[in-house]
Amino acid sequence: MKILIVGSGGREHAIAWKVAQSEKAEQIFCAPGNAGIAEYAQCVDIGAMEFEKLAAFAQEKEIDLTIVGMDDPLVGGIVDVFEQKGLRVFGPRKNAAILEGSKAFSKDLMKKYHIPTAAYETFDDAEAAVKYLQTASYPIVLKADGLALGKGVLICQTEEEALDGVRQIMLDKKFGAAGNQLVVEEFMTGREVSVLSFVDGKTIRTMTSAQDHKRAKDGDQGLNTGGMGTFSPSPFYTEEIDRFCQEHIYQPTVDAMAAEGRPFVGIIFFGLMLTEDGPKVLEYNARFGDPEAQVVLPRMKNDILDVMNACIDGNLDQVELEFEDNAAVCVVLASEGYPLEYQKGLPIAGLEKFKNKEGYYVFHAGTKYVDGQIVTAGGRVLGVTAKGADLKQARKNAYQAVEWVSFDNKYCRSDIGKAIDEVKEINLD
Ligand code: AMP
Ligand code: GLY
Repeated sequence: MKILIVGSGGREHAIAWKVAQSEKAEQIFCAPGNAGIAEYAQCVDIGAMEFEKLAAFAQEKEIDLTIVGMDDPLVGGIVDVFEQKGLRVFGPRKNAAILEGSKAFSKDLMKKYHIPTAAYETFDDAEAAVKYLQTASYPIVLKADGLALGKGVLICQTEEEALDGVRQIMLDKKFGAAGNQLVVEEFMTGREVSVLSFVDGKTIRTMTSAQDHKRAKDGDQGLNTGGMGTFSPSPFYTEEIDRFCQEHIYQPTVDAMAAEGRPFVGIIFFGLMLTEDGPKVLEYNARFGDPEAQVVLPRMKNDILDVMNACIDGNLDQVELEFEDNAAVCVVLASEGYPLEYQKGLPIAGLEKFKNKEGYYVFHAGTKYVDGQIVTAGGRVLGVTAKGADLKQARKNAYQAVEWVSFDNKYCRSDIGKAIDEVKEINLD
């Protein structure tokens, strides 16, 4: 098969690596790709939002399957454009990608179908939102309705902060049209878990669990980022919790989308909060997580092309997903200053040390070739993943491998996966 992957980050690198493991993959292209993806795929200089150009490329090269990694093109309807031209593509159509594209939609869906989530109110008028917030209890959570690069969520401790948030989102339009509607949500506490799944419109098969570290600094301090590291599996995600979620969250979500005439085909990413009252949905995404993919895919035993084809053909019920009985940790190497200001164009050394090292991976997030040298080209530069027999070993291996790579201003958190030490019932020695 000839494969085209759409996207350019660490997630797409992990997808390209996994696709390259399949005997069915003859040739892989990636648009636009990056310097790491170039090891497995021919990178094509077409942007992820250039649907017509991408479809023309797929037609010209007789691509058998296009895999869309990113949220923006999915929410924008890339799958519909490809399907209209008779091209085979993996991902939800626009009317299903709305599960991620509109928080108001997803909250209303959960309410209608009794899927556990935080209590909420939706506003399209700033004055009404302000009135509500004047009598609300705090802390409280404000969410811009649309896609906002993961930054459209504000946790407000006081009424003053909340009113300022309404101003930013609805009046100053800090997140653009994403702020036309506002969701005000009850603040929940608990452990967060990410569960990714394959869906064929009717059947859902969940992957092994993972956990993301979103804050820039150790101890979950500092600004929110696109993700500074992940580990998989989450020791907090027990079999009992899984059973509850399969029954009350996962299958009901797929059934709800089908009942609404929006059958979901692709990846549903469930962002869960394990609260005292049981697991609740924080958010849905319509694609692999980044950097969750970088710890989940290296542990997956199945041929990913078989699973994606089963989703498209509607026979995922014939597939059982299998994961290795081990653990993986991904540490993101960023440029000092991320997520605010940082330098780009710094040469990276040591990448060759990952070659032929079983269980070690370096997934590129923001890199490019300049005069034959790989240099930094983004805030998040690389994701160093290592596997181990258990989480403690995987973490040790990952931090060892972090030392193999060097570039000026290299920054990473030193506590990725550390929360796992708090789990008393699990022996990590
Ligand atoms: P989201 O983009 O909806 O996942 O929100 C980003 C982050 O904000 C989540 O990963 C949580 O850490 C936090 N968050 C979102 N909603 C809530 C909530 N209702 N209560 C507490 N924290 C939340
Ligand atoms: N790691 C969170 C996300 O991909 O949205």
